[in-house]
Formats: sequence, C-alpha cells, structure tokens
Amino acid sequence: MTSNSSATRGTVFLVGAGPGAPDLLTVRAARLLGEADIVFYDALVPEEILSLIKTSKKTAVGKRSGRFSTAQNFINKQLLDAARKYATVVRLKGGDPMLFGRAHEEISYLVGKGISVKVVPGVTAALAASAELGVSMTKRGQARSVAFVTPRVGEGMAESSWIRAALAADTVAIYMGADEIGDIAAALIVAGKAMATPVAVVESASLPGAGVAYGTLARLPKVEKRDGPALILVGDVYGEAAAQAMEAERCRQASA
Ligand SMILES: C[S@@+](CC[C@H](N)C(=O)[O-])C[C@H]1O[C@@H](n2cnc3c(N)ncnc32)[C@H](O)[C@@H]1O
Repeated sequence: MTSNSSATRGTVFLVGAGPGAPDLLTVRAARLLGEADIVFYDALVPEEILSLIKTSKKTAVGKRSGRFSTAQNFINKQLLDAARKYATVVRLKGGDPMLFGRAHEEISYLVGKGISVKVVPGVTAALAASAELGVSMTKRGQARSVAFVTPRVGEGMAESSWIRAALAADTVAIYMGADEIGDIAAALIVAGKAMATPVAVVESASLPGAGVAYGTLARLPKVEKRDGPALILVGDVYGEAAAQAMEAERCRQASA
C-alpha cells in the first residue's frame, strides 16, 4: 500500500484467519504465520491456528464485547513500533480483515506513518455459515443480492444504516447481533419486513461445536446457551430449511 522509507523496514500484513477451522486458512496466511517475526492476534482466533505461529513474539490484542479488549490506538502504536523493528509483522484477524475488522483504522494509521501494509483475505463468517447451512445466499430464483450488516456502532460513530441495507437486499447476514436478536427482529418487522421471513442462526461456523437453528422473524430460532460467535441470516432462501426444522420441532414437542 506504500513503499518503505529508509527509516522503516517492516511490512505489516493484515491477515484473515477465517472463521475458525485451521484448514480454512489460506495457504498465504499459513505461510505468513510461519514466517512472521511478530504476531498480534484477535481474541476469536482459535488455539489450533495460533499454534502455526513459529515466533515466540505473539500478543493477544483482540476485541471481544464484554471481554478482553485493547484500545485501537494502542494496537496501532504496537503495530507501528513492531514495523520499525521487524521485517514481517502479522496482524491476525478473525474472518476477513476487511469486513467489520477495523482494518481501515490500522491501514490508514500505518500508511500515514510510511509503513508498508498488505492485506491477506480470509473466509468471512457469512460464507462459512452458508456452508454450514448448505443453503446458497443467492439461491437462483429467490435471491440476487446479499448484504453484510451489523447494528453495532462504535462509540461516537453515526447510527448504522443496517436496516436500510437489510430491506434492500434479498439475503442479509447480520454480524455481531446474536445477543440482540429479539431487538433486531422487532426492528426489521417495524421497518416492513414480513413476520414470516425465514431466519437462521449459525454458531461457531466451521468449528466442531457448530450449531444451526431456524425460525422466522416472528418465531425466532431457539438458540441454546451460546459459547461461540454467532451470525444471523435472514431471507427467503432459508424458507424450505426453516419450515422443515420448525415442523420437526413441532413433532418433537407433540411426542414429548
Ligand atoms: C468483529 S466481527 C468480525 C467479522 C470477521 N472479520 C469476518 O469476516 O467474519 C465478529 C462477528 O463475526 C461473526 N462470526 C465470526 N466468526 C464466526 C463463526 N465462526 N461463526 C459464526 N459467526 C461468526 C459473529 O457475528 C461475530 O460477532
């Protein structure tokens, strides 16, 4: 993104760790984890992926709501200091770095300081969740548009326009919303989305503990106690699977 000046020597690689399964890492990401002089990683990155890091210089700088958090300014400064000292600095982020990963803040800060930055894409959660469900987000005849949204806004940021985007797209992937699924569904219904719109929740997509639940905006998927990250998917493409799952649940309750 910029060439190194003589005062700086390192390149910072913003690397996507993917949704969690180590074999969904890109070959480039795995190579960089082995070559890095120093690695700064997010809280959502699982141990199996961290074990690919060869250097002993690895630091958790993850941001996870309600848990461990390191201020973004401090992360930026750590990356800058590392780039002035080491040739290969890896900033490892969950999923894809360019989606809800605050990549822009890190890139603009580092480039502004004359540091070379390169981005290595990763499999984003919505794609891993689609694989888990076995349902295409762009099922022919039902969906021709997809929106990746989050209702979450950072402190001091403008309100999110997620509802507008969610109404405009046929299929919607909602990041960082599972804890507020009731409010999200209510907001979509008030905005005009049909109450019968199918909804899927996928937890820990790509990981051994993955879980899937279906419902509608009016009858939300029953998500048991969650341990991992979860994504909400909304759209008619989930209609068939949701109807089957809800029928199976009705039968189960009737025979209980
Ligand atoms: C801060 S965002 C980061 C998204 C990431 N950059 C990506 O591309 O997937 C974190 C949110 O992504 C979603 N997420 C991440 N990993 C997931 C997974 N394995 N299964 C389901 N949702 C996941 C959850 O909604 C979580 O709250």
